[in-house]
This record gives sequence, structure tokens and C-alpha cells, in this order.
Amino acid sequence: MAFTGLRAFAVIAALAVASNAAPALDTRALCPDGVNRVNNLQCCRFIPVRDALISEIFEGQCGENAHSTVRIAFHDAIGFSTRGGKGGGADGSMIAFGATELAFAANAGIDEIVEDLQPFADAHGVSYGDIIQFGSSVALSLCPGAPLVQTFVGRRNATAPAPDGTVPDPFNPVTQILARMADAGFSPAEVIALLASHSIAAQDEIEPNIARSPFDSTPDSFDTQVFLEVLLKGNVLPGGLGPGEGEVLSPLEGEFRLESDAAFARDPRTACTWQSFVANQSLMSRQFATAMAKLGLLGQNSRQLVDCTEIIPRAKPATRTAAIIPAGKTRQDIEASCAQSAFPNLQTARGPPATVPPVPEQ
Ligand code: HEM
Ligand SMILES: *[C@@H]1O[C@H](CO)[C@@H](O)[C@H](O)[C@H]1NC(C)=O
Ligand SMILES: *[C@@H]1O[C@H](CO)[C@@H](O)[C@H](O)[C@H]1NC(C)=O
Repeated sequence: MAFTGLRAFAVIAALAVASNAAPALDTRALCPDGVNRVNNLQCCRFIPVRDALISEIFEGQCGENAHSTVRIAFHDAIGFSTRGGKGGGADGSMIAFGATELAFAANAGIDEIVEDLQPFADAHGVSYGDIIQFGSSVALSLCPGAPLVQTFVGRRNATAPAPDGTVPDPFNPVTQILARMADAGFSPAEVIALLASHSIAAQDEIEPNIARSPFDSTPDSFDTQVFLEVLLKGNVLPGGLGPGEGEVLSPLEGEFRLESDAAFARDPRTACTWQSFVANQSLMSRQFATAMAKLGLLGQNSRQLVDCTEIIPRAKPATRTAAIIPAGKTRQDIEASCAQSAFPNLQTARGPPATVPPVPEQ
């Protein structure tokens, strides 16, 4: 048997040299489950966690729960300051100290995903910091166009809640949000890269009468559409009420625009980064991946963690590399705001103007 095995190995090795088409030998270690192979055996235990997250929490979709998990990844991690004294960063304190942090106004609505993730983490013996950041990377893998985000596990339980005031509000001026984000270690360009997350987003809390209204017309796809649509002239108050605090006019029926997104798209400090993503899916997703990996390590020491990026599934590619002007709009509707470079040429969708449907509730 050993002899045959060795001969088979020699044949496979020879084939691999002879032809690029021959299957490469899998040298990765076999997990205790006897099925999965990994480079780092410490990642094995997260494979069933990944699979259960996808089937039980996300239901296989880039839907509400996947979106909410990316949002909680931000709200948990940003409870941090490079100067200290503002919480432990990506440590799961949003769940462990939910009685404190979920009561902060900026965390409105986060309680729903905590209700799902807390018992899930407990059942799988995973720390809250890990379930949030690992979960966010797995959630993104369900959204076409999303990048693979470098993902670590092994965070310890939080020891204290973050104080109020670490999470930006959509009615805060750009200067204030940039200052808060700088305090946590992010440049203005990184803030805009992180806002690619609003490509898979909807609101519930500002205008509850139009619950689940998305920030772009394609909330189940991690595409560049949000960077174009936020720049379109606003003329609609979706739902007819309001505007709520932090809401401004949107360009499309059913679509919701945050005051802060509108301001970032037009502010001289951030407008050119914003515009650079409109027709450049790969630039947007790469910059987001880098900033998101940094977010997931706030307050953590990566040398004390385990890199399990290898078990995060790859998302399908986005259908387009550039945003498309929604039907009924023209180039004249774009409030181009970058003084240094021309606005890219884009295709226009045909047909009658469409109403953006809400993200289905999960
Ligand atoms: C920097 C300033 C930011 C502000 C002012 C802001 C504000 C908001 C607001 C008001 C909502 C709607 C919440 C609701 O009513 O349910 C929202 C949703 C969301 N945000 Fe942000 N956000 C910011 C940055 C970020 C960042 C950095 C991320 C992630 C990296 C993020 C990810 C999301 C996601 C995924 C949603 C959708 C949640 C869902 O549909 O369930 N946001 N954001
Ligand atoms: C983290 O806290 C949970 C309960 O909140 C507990 O079950 C778990 O053992 C703790 N993990 C560590 C590493 O202390
Ligand atoms: C996307 O951005 C990168 C980096 O700036 C640039 O090299 C590339 O040419 C851009 N692609 C398009 C289609 O604009």
C-alpha cells in the first residue's frame, strides 16, 4: 500500500510538473473532521461556525442580517481611541455590555442582530468579538463584488463597555465625523473606503415608516452604485414624511439618503476619493478590504490572534465594474464635486424610472 501510494505520488508530481492543468497536490493539513483542509489547524473549529452563520443567520443571502453584521462590526470596533480611554475596540463589548452600549442612540437597531449573534456565539463557544468580525467577513462573502477581508480570530472577551459618543451620527458635520474617525486611527480616504459598506445597507431607525429603505438601488450587491447615487440631485422624500434627523432628499423613490453620505460625497476633503470609486469596482473593493481589516483589529494585537482568512469564502464578482446611471436620470443630474478630475463617463439604464424596493425583513 505504501509503495502504491508513493508511486501514485510520484506520478501525480510528475504530471504536475508536466502540465499546468494537472491538479495540484493539496499539502494542507486535514482537520479533525476528516474532510476540510487548512494551512492553520486552529482555523478548523471556525469552519462549522462559518457554515452555520451562512445557513442559520444569513440564510445564504446578502440580506438584512448580513448587512446588520457588517454594521455591528463597525459599531463595536469604533469604540476605541488611539489615545486610550474609549473602549477596547473590536472586542465584542457591543454584545457583552449590550445593556450599556445598545442604549446609546447611535446604536439604535443594533439590538436585532445582537439577539441573533449572542446565542449563536454562546452555542458555538466563540467570543463575541470574534463572532462580530468573523461574521462580518462571512457576511460580505455573500455579497457579489465584496472583497475578501483579512480575518483574525482569537479575541478575548471584552472587559468593559465603550463609552457613548464613539459612533458617528448621520447628522454630525463632516469635520466632526472625520475627527472622531481620526481619533480611532482612520484617514479621510479610509473613512470613504469604509463607506463602501453603505452599498449593502438600509435604514430602519431614522424613518421607521419606510423601514428597510436602502441607500442605493442594489443593496444585495457590494457595487459602486452607492457612490454614484449619493451624488445625484436629491428631489424625493421617500415615504412622504420627514425628513428625519440625518436624512436628506434622495434621487429615487424608495431610496434613502443619509445627510453624512451626501456631505462626504461633496466635501472638498473627501469628494475626490468618493468620485474615484464611482467607476472603479476593484479600487473600491481593495481599499475597503484594507480599511475593514484594520477596523477588525482595533484594540487587538494581531500577533496574539490567528489569521483564518483562508476559510472565508470568496464572493461572486460584481456584475459591473462601473456604476450605471439609473433609468430616468442623466449626466446632468450628477452633482460632480471633485475639483481635480473629470467625472467618469457612465452608461445609462434604459426604461422607466424604477422605485427602489425595501430590503426584505429577515
Ligand atoms: C462614518 C459615518 C457613518 C454614519 C454616520 C453611518 C450611519 C448609518 C445609519 C444612520 C444607518 C442606518 C441604521 C438604521 O436606521 O437601521 C447605517 C446603516 C449601515 N451602516 Fe453606516 N454609518 C457610518 C459608517 C459606516 C461604516 C464605517 C460601516 C461599515 C464598515 C457602516 C455600515 C453600515 C451598514 C452595513 C448599514 C446597513 C445596516 C442594515 O441594513 O441593517 N456604516 N449607517
Ligand atoms: C467569554 O464569555 C462567555 C460568556 O459571556 C463565556 O462563556 C466564555 O467562557 C468566555 N470566554 C473566555 C475566553 O473567557
Ligand atoms: C482604478 O484605479 C486604479 C488605481 O488608481 C487605476 O490604476 C486604474 O486605472 C483604475 N481603473 C479604471 C477603470 O479607472
